[in-house]
Amino acid sequence: MRQSSLVVVANRLPVDDSVARDGACEWRRSPGGLVSALHPILQHTPATWVGWAGGTGPAPSLPDIDGVRMHTVALSHEDIRDHYEGFANATLWPLYHDSVEQPAYHRRWWEAYQRVNQRFAEAAAAAAEPGALVWVQDYHLQLVPGMLRALRPDLLIGFFLHVPFPPPELFMQLPRRAELMLGMLGADLVGFQRAQAAHNFAQLATKVLKVPATDRRIAIDDRVVRIGAFPVSINMSEMESLAARPDVLERARQLRSDLGDPQHVILSVDRMDYTKGIEQRLKAYSELIADGHIKVRDTVMVQVAVPSRERVEQYRILRDRVEREVGRINGEFGRVGEPAIHYLNQSFSRADLAALYRVADIMAVTPLRDGMNLVAKEYVAARVDDDGALLLSEFAGAAAEFQQAYLVNPHDLDGLKLTLMHALEASPTDVADRMRSMRGHLRTHDIRAWVHGYLTALDRTGSLAARLTA
Ligand code: G6P
Repeated sequence: MRQSSLVVVANRLPVDDSVARDGACEWRRSPGGLVSALHPILQHTPATWVGWAGGTGPAPSLPDIDGVRMHTVALSHEDIRDHYEGFANATLWPLYHDSVEQPAYHRRWWEAYQRVNQRFAEAAAAAAEPGALVWVQDYHLQLVPGMLRALRPDLLIGFFLHVPFPPPELFMQLPRRAELMLGMLGADLVGFQRAQAAHNFAQLATKVLKVPATDRRIAIDDRVVRIGAFPVSINMSEMESLAARPDVLERARQLRSDLGDPQHVILSVDRMDYTKGIEQRLKAYSELIADGHIKVRDTVMVQVAVPSRERVEQYRILRDRVEREVGRINGEFGRVGEPAIHYLNQSFSRADLAALYRVADIMAVTPLRDGMNLVAKEYVAARVDDDGALLLSEFAGAAAEFQQAYLVNPHDLDGLKLTLMHALEASPTDVADRMRSMRGHLRTHDIRAWVHGYLTALDRTGSLAARLTA
């Protein structure tokens, strides 16, 4: 096997499988995300991406994407059920998001989590050349750094958690809490979205593992593991160019006219997930209509809820509840040809999303808890004319950077209603001042800065990171 000096390990490969016109499956780079972040680095470095291609059965062999080798890890039906849908998305996901849904604990899921993590660690070990840098991503693979270190002590290992890391009171519930922490501590650098998460992790290291820990370093065995906050970002210039493309502008004009040329368009774009606060937002909106503060003809709400993890029970229940509520609101407040809420349970192309962002006078991003929320950052990037109001939950990682957004506590319905009205009625200068300042921040904190910041922190000798990010 060809080996690489940089190996990225993530549950998913950066590919979409889409059906080509002739019915065959074609693979292409999935838009946005980590792969476009890493793109500038990957062009100069022989790199490999280790991940799952999305289906069951034997791993398909995929062509390189933009010069990056795709190393697929196969998952069986049982692996998907017990590792991906089970331990990752029905134990860790709800627990790490403030337990807004009850996490489930099953011993069989833990076995699958270990087994699948071991498979990813072995794949990464096989793909890495001597002394390579291996960067492991997210909560699906928390055991990989430890397993990889056991296999390949020569490697420089990074781990980054894209989701929140919970306070000790919650994490302590986990039956296998010590093993999960030891797994992450196999890395040389453990990165989080926010400083609070690093603090939680340090406290837990002292409590669970009884090792010396500060918010910057943890001493374990004869090593020092560094920890810290590295807020992830987006490719701002890519979104800016997309949002300025003539066909996207034309699409935005068309959308606005299809919506009946209202005075205000409020947009939300979420995965259909119970952490996103969709129900609370719908409730606030319908109360504002019922109270007479919002008129359906003047103001239109568009809710995009991208299908997600549909085989997990809590996601199915959520979808039913959201759809019932949208039906109720439209039944009560809509008119023929004028629904109160335009609800779309489907995914959109990058260009269509950019057009939606251009149409939205107000973007409502109100998760109950979110590691970062890249939709908030994409919206800011798309508003090339410095207009548009961002209504943002205090509980999204993005709020730490976007203090100029209209910040809300999504659990506080009255506060949510007041802030939404405040954003709707804000003066164009107030909106523009806020947007300009957020755009200024994003420009210097885009995805390139994130990758550079993380990799230079990981490789303190500077030689490898300098070569990679040159
Ligand atoms: C979150 C996670 C990602 C994950 C994404 C989509 O953002 O942090 O690791 O890939 O959700 O979820 P999915 O289950 O479709 O991979």
